[in-house]
Amino acid sequence: MLTAAAKFRIRVNGRIHDVYAAPRTPLLYILRNDLKLNGPKFGCGLGECGACAVLIGNRSVRSCTIALSAVRDRAVTTLEGLGNSDAPHPVQAAFIANNAAQCGYCLNGMIIATVALLASHPHPTETEIRNALRYHLCRCGTHIEILAAVRSAAAWSAEAGQAGDGAVDDRATSHDPHEAAS
Ligand code: FES
Ligand code: FES
Repeated sequence: MLTAAAKFRIRVNGRIHDVYAAPRTPLLYILRNDLKLNGPKFGCGLGECGACAVLIGNRSVRSCTIALSAVRDRAVTTLEGLGNSDAPHPVQAAFIANNAAQCGYCLNGMIIATVALLASHPHPTETEIRNALRYHLCRCGTHIEILAAVRSAAAWSAEAGQAGDGAVDDRATSHDPHEAAS
């Protein structure tokens, strides 16, 4: 049965957005289609590959399986909220320095998982690193470089600091499809 769209206010990368969608709409769809944040990728849509991961608070969450209505007022951070090419987050910089990419499709999830890992374990053991990435799939076989990048990020994080979930910008950005159409 179709559920009527409703208005939800969510906090993403430090900004508040009003979005209009059915309550069960996966957060991933809102991020990519409404907010045009394409860091999180659609891979399996089943919570299994990790390509869609985002941070909610400091936890890595699969945005394809969390409903919009379940996000509530918790701070969401996507890859775009961590850094950019001019000022990459230390974890992003570590992936670049270690050439940890082939097609790049898995990297959103790998980087988000690493940021979450270092938030909870600033000095992770090899086992903790492998466990953190265990359910993130890389079809290109870039695992050796990715593990090296995570080790680098762990070594740098104490000096470089971590990106938090950002200050809230109280300006609400509306994503009302009716407004867009008017
Ligand atoms: S797309 Fe979300 S876990 Fe695969
Ligand atoms: S680099 Fe291609 S899926 Fe990981």
